Amino acid sequence: VSTVIPIGGDAPYNVVVGHGVADQLPPLVAGAATVVVIADRHVVERATPLADALEAAGHRVERLEIGDGEQAKSLESVAGLWDRLGELRITRSDAMVAVGGGATTDVVGFAAATWLRGIRIVHVPTTLLGMVDAAVGGKTGINTAAGKNLVGAFHPPVGVLVDLDVLATLPAAQWVNGMAEVVKAGFIGDPTILDLIDLDPESAAVPGGTHSRELIERSILVKADVVSVDLRESGRRESLNYGHTLGHAIEAIEHYQIPHGHAVSIGLVFAAALGRHSGRLDDHTADRHAELLTRLGLPTSYRPDALPQLVEAMRVDKKSRGAMQRFVVLDGLGMPAILDDPDSSLLEAAYAEVADG
Ligand SMILES: NC(=O)c1ccc[n+]([C@@H]2O[C@H](COP(=O)([O-])OP(=O)(O)OC[C@H]3O[C@@H](n4cnc5c(N)ncnc54)[C@H](O)[C@@H]3O)[C@@H](O)[C@H]2O)c1
Repeated sequence: VSTVIPIGGDAPYNVVVGHGVADQLPPLVAGAATVVVIADRHVVERATPLADALEAAGHRVERLEIGDGEQAKSLESVAGLWDRLGELRITRSDAMVAVGGGATTDVVGFAAATWLRGIRIVHVPTTLLGMVDAAVGGKTGINTAAGKNLVGAFHPPVGVLVDLDVLATLPAAQWVNGMAEVVKAGFIGDPTILDLIDLDPESAAVPGGTHSRELIERSILVKADVVSVDLRESGRRESLNYGHTLGHAIEAIEHYQIPHGHAVSIGLVFAAALGRHSGRLDDHTADRHAELLTRLGLPTSYRPDALPQLVEAMRVDKKSRGAMQRFVVLDGLGMPAILDDPDSSLLEAAYAEVADG
């Protein structure tokens, strides 16, 4: 049986989690003469049951393949998709389906947001990160010379179909990468996630572990809860940025050669330390960050001399507001709050907890 997680807001939709969810697709694109199914090159075969279900329901189906990963999140990819959509004479009543990781749902989502000023899209995420984060919440985007994800649009999908069967081929390293976001969701919104990982950390570190489905569903619920009330990142959505301020800075100075989940993992330990050293977070909860992340095989430390460079990189993070440095910290388990402009001694004390060696 499938689990249905509703996402509220102006354009509500459901995230459906289950095994083999292709039969849920046709109703989401009702009325579309043509449906364009675009798959990441590593998961093209996952598009077959989706395309078959659409054809059986009477739609003309066009299948496209795009590259995977960050290179595919480019203006060239989007321009290529726009050209194909033009050749196929896709109208506003038609629809698109994106099948792949977060890079794919971001770039295809952006093409859908911009074609005819927005046509329907269904996301079918195939990575853990895509399922619990990228495909849910309506943000789409591409990378440009100016940086990662600086160009994009808010364009909520009409549905998200999470087929747990696709995880069978997901490399363990990709799973672990996504687990950083699952741990984040646990700390900001659902401590049961942390308890489930504690119960069986080895199985939480691989796709198809005992509690995989529950971890995925609970993480989606945390994101659903936040984005339902705040699509455009004015307030509560900021809590999703927990661990990401330092994480983004690490990614930037590593020129994006470090996996996102690794950077976030280090960022989470730093954010916990900020909470501790500002007298807001108890030691037990703060310590639990590095303990859990280490058990999952995620890194928790970084170069000891990197703080000045990281502070500089954090200044240009698009999520900082004006000249102010904002960090999401915890006042306790499941209690995210904002720490504005911590002074340099606080940053140094917190950074000492992630500095290795
Ligand atoms: N829009 C948002 O709110 C949001 C949130 C978080 C992250 N993101 C974006 O998501 C992207 C990262 O997503 P990701 O980690 O899924 O990476 P990804 O999309 O690059 O996928 C990682 C790799 O796994 C492969 N893959 C995907 N599914 C597979 C499967 N089932 N079996 C085998 N291989 C598979 C892909 O082809 C790719 O090579 C980043 O670009 C990030 O900016 C967006």
